[in-house]
Amino acid sequence: MNAAVPVIAIDGPSGSGKGTIALGVASRLQFHLLDSGALYRLVAHAARRDGIAEDDETALAALVRRLAIEFRGRADAVSVHLDGADVTLAIRDEACGMAASKIAGLAAVRSALLAFQRGFRRAPGLVADGRDMGTVVFPDAGLKIFLTASAEERAQRRYKQLKDKGFDVNLRALLREIEARDLQDTQRPVAPLVAAADAVVLDSTALTIDQVQDRVLELAAQRLISASGR
Ligand code: DC
Repeated sequence: MNAAVPVIAIDGPSGSGKGTIALGVASRLQFHLLDSGALYRLVAHAARRDGIAEDDETALAALVRRLAIEFRGRADAVSVHLDGADVTLAIRDEACGMAASKIAGLAAVRSALLAFQRGFRRAPGLVADGRDMGTVVFPDAGLKIFLTASAEERAQRRYKQLKDKGFDVNLRALLREIEARDLQDTQRPVAPLVAAADAVVLDSTALTIDQVQDRVLELAAQRLISASGR
């Protein structure tokens, strides 16, 4: 691990705003960005493509090792490519999120993705969002944020986000799916969704995106940038 490169880990449940905040903070600081959820979604997508069962741990770990994953572009214009195909939109629906959450419970899949995720740690710094960024992947991150919001608020946000992308969605169904995914992500034995002991917990239910982003940037200035003498 390149311990000299600062990392901001942003973990939290589905729809808490991690992705938006991570993107905003990375753009402001000119840091690299790791959307780790996209990796689990890519594996789920490829498993469906190749007809591999969601509980076939050995076949899924082998699949991870042969996938060609590529993030192209920068900041808000990132496109995700799998074995040469653009799957940016295809991995965003809730069915893919749920399949990703199931696959993410398999230890062999998680460990096959570990080195790839750590490879995103490059100068001048990294903002990484997911479920276990601060607990497992970057336990030495200089700033760890655990972002939460009520399930109702998260369902509303996810509804708007998916609608804007052109998906046909239903708010009540989304709320049920978010609650089911929360349960699955927090109860699994391997790398469960939990705040790291040294994480700053931010509840964004009543905050705007700008307010959350400003708070994270303030904490980053205190904890990372001053520590690295910038
Ligand atoms: O953040 P997301 O909704 O795109 O993530 C999809 C699923 O992937 C999520 O429900 C659980 C899993 N995941 C994980 O287990 N660990 C991560 N670091 C990121 C995502």
